[in-house]
Amino acid sequence: MEATAVTEQQHPQGKAHNPGGAEAPVFRARKNGQEQKVSAELSDWMRTGWADTEMRGVDPIEQAEHTARRRAALSARFPGERLVIPAGGLKTRSNDTEYPFRAACDYVYLSGDQSDDGCLVFEPHPGGHDVTAYLRPRSNRENGEFWLDGHGELWSGRRNSLAEGAARLGIAAHDVRELPAVLEKAADGAATRVVRGHDAALEKVVDGLRGDAGKAAERDEELAVALHDLRLVKDEWEVEQLQKAVDSTVRGFEDVVAALPKAKATSERYIEGTFFLRARVEGNDVGYGTIAASGPNATTLHWVRNDGPVRDGELLLLDAGVETNELYTADVTRTLPISGTFTDVQRRVYDLVYKAQEESIAAVAPGRPFRDYHVAAQRALAEGLIAMGLLEGPVDRVVELGLQRRYTLHGTGHMLGLDVHDCARSRTEEHLYGELKPGMVLTVEPGLYFQPDDLTVPEELRGIGVRIEDDVVVTEDGNRVMSAGLPRRSDEVEAWLAEHLPKS
Ligand code: GLY
Ligand code: MN
Ligand code: MN
Repeated sequence: MEATAVTEQQHPQGKAHNPGGAEAPVFRARKNGQEQKVSAELSDWMRTGWADTEMRGVDPIEQAEHTARRRAALSARFPGERLVIPAGGLKTRSNDTEYPFRAACDYVYLSGDQSDDGCLVFEPHPGGHDVTAYLRPRSNRENGEFWLDGHGELWSGRRNSLAEGAARLGIAAHDVRELPAVLEKAADGAATRVVRGHDAALEKVVDGLRGDAGKAAERDEELAVALHDLRLVKDEWEVEQLQKAVDSTVRGFEDVVAALPKAKATSERYIEGTFFLRARVEGNDVGYGTIAASGPNATTLHWVRNDGPVRDGELLLLDAGVETNELYTADVTRTLPISGTFTDVQRRVYDLVYKAQEESIAAVAPGRPFRDYHVAAQRALAEGLIAMGLLEGPVDRVVELGLQRRYTLHGTGHMLGLDVHDCARSRTEEHLYGELKPGMVLTVEPGLYFQPDDLTVPEELRGIGVRIEDDVVVTEDGNRVMSAGLPRRSDEVEAWLAEHLPKS
């Protein structure tokens, strides 16, 4: 790498910048406090000779109206209280390397921002709250941070100035390094709640300012629950984001089918990598670890090792989702015959799961209890397992005792949004035991899994795992399958494979 921004002509090195020969400054890295000593000449030189790039034109985020409405809803829920909602920071992967940063969902939901170390503070006043985004400002050029700190702008890229951050988000922006002092100063005022689990240092500051720790933890939990309740019904912009995620995911599945010959020559990893390429090109990332499970690996629910062989005659269970640049994820599963055609026994299992999914999707409608679509799928699977001679009826007994669960193992779906398992902390009366509402987005994902060592099933079934998973939005009069771009019925799956599998 070569520095090209400063030329000899613009700023001749070592001349007249440190005429008095002042002592070399010491810079301490933000993260590990390590000292960096450089000569006074270099330090001086690095401070100067840069064009002024302080102000760039920035556009407001496109979801600004929605984030403002979400903040107003949260404000109304906690009048007179201070709310602290952090984005979280970088997490160490190994030694001095970090995982790619992914901002906390509640912070993103309320701000539209994804800055590491960011934090939203709702400061109460008699009519509501003033909301401020506390952000890291641009790197300091005077003390050398911009080039001496591993997270300075010359290493990590330009950050928004605070003025730019405020213009983008539509709220005031202050330096996040001032936040502890701001909170301490306000300590004897309003009660403070914080969303926990993202910023331990900030939690320590807030905890230090509060009394009864048990009570404070309870109040923090109420804030987390309220946010998940708010996130249950998606607004128009969120549904568009989720559709975008699903559409990219559909293309990712097509990529995988086209790459199957290469996967057969290597391993399931080729499938994972192929899907990941689509996710990174069109979105931020995958929304969760891709499950590329071939043959008997499909009976392991969260098979993410993806190091098994891919063979003709077996099924590939691919559970994968693209996460958009705004962090909304799809969650889709298809179970595909690798050769292009199901065997009779594979088709029998597949068609039963398909029937369960059809009956389950039919139970997704506004006003229906959330549990209905799970109950419908479980009942259809139980009936099919009885018909296959694997369980003894009547079906009511099987379902009541949950006997079908030996072969289906998991629930039939979950909410979908910024988290793949979205709104998990919302109140049960609003969610698991609540009613579906227009704008809710959920997965419908029945499955059957016959373990390779399960002696209760005929040998021909052992090692077969089938899941069909679609993303469904509740509409005013029923539902819409957002992932309908991928076929589900067995004959349609075969026709689609014939279209996308490379001809050998
Ligand atoms: N991909 C995880 C799930 O389907 O819930
Ligand atoms: Mn899934
Ligand atoms: Mn799922």
